[in-house]
Amino acid sequence: MRKDTPGNADQSDMAQPTRVVRTKDQAAESYDRLAPGYDRFAAFENPNRRRGVRALALGRGEAVLELGYGTGASLVDMARSVGSEGCVAGIDISEGMARVARGRLEREGLGSTVDLRVGDAARLPFSDSTFDAVFASFTLELFDTPEIPVVLGECRRVLKPEGRIGLVAMDAPPRRGLMERLYVWTHRKWPGVVDCRPIPVEAELIAAGFRPERVENRRMFGLAVAIVVATVPADEARSPGIDSAGGD
Ligand SMILES: C[S@@+](CC[C@H](N)C(=O)[O-])C[C@H]1O[C@@H](n2cnc3c(N)ncnc32)[C@H](O)[C@@H]1O
Repeated sequence: MRKDTPGNADQSDMAQPTRVVRTKDQAAESYDRLAPGYDRFAAFENPNRRRGVRALALGRGEAVLELGYGTGASLVDMARSVGSEGCVAGIDISEGMARVARGRLEREGLGSTVDLRVGDAARLPFSDSTFDAVFASFTLELFDTPEIPVVLGECRRVLKPEGRIGLVAMDAPPRRGLMERLYVWTHRKWPGVVDCRPIPVEAELIAAGFRPERVENRRMFGLAVAIVVATVPADEARSPGIDSAGGD
């Protein structure tokens, strides 16, 4: 019998989308626990996260929403880019992350300028056509496979017709190297510990009706990371053909 090891996992098996089995409450609890030490633990993600914010090229006066803001580092960068005439909002499922983000924004003198929400990004508590841009880094790959289009549909709903989305996410290239196989194998074995997995970032965006405008492929410890900025094509924006899953 073939042993279950990352080296033995064949490419076709690895290409199957892995499912996320934990509940939203479990996700919130896990990030509540991680929140106080998260900045130290995830510092290696910062260069790609920052590149993602820069790629979005926010202008003064724009309105931007971040999904899964974590400890709020990108919220600070985005608030500085859009200035006091702009508007920044964020939604994260973890109260613990919200506490850390709130503290950071206060220390940076931005406490009253960012609309911080605690909730599920699969049901955005914002009206249609509210934002010029939506951003998410290392967050979309935490959603279960059938929920990714729901989240992207919500992004389209809250974006203004010619708005843009910026994603930084672990990417699933067609052929995976050893580190990618090891990561996916670990995710399958211990989904509660390794909570995310690579996803086909560009393909998910295209399936949700976005048009990738700018794609940067990077590596992080041998893992593929995609930084993508995408827009809704003008004709699609006029007739989005998506259901409103949330809104207020
Ligand atoms: C891996 S962390 C990334 C944090 C931050 N974006 C960064 O790049 O440092 C993922 C974040 O997504 C949040 N999250 C997980 N599931 C979520 C959901 N269903 N809705 C909103 N946020 C969620 C977590 O609480 C966590 O703060």
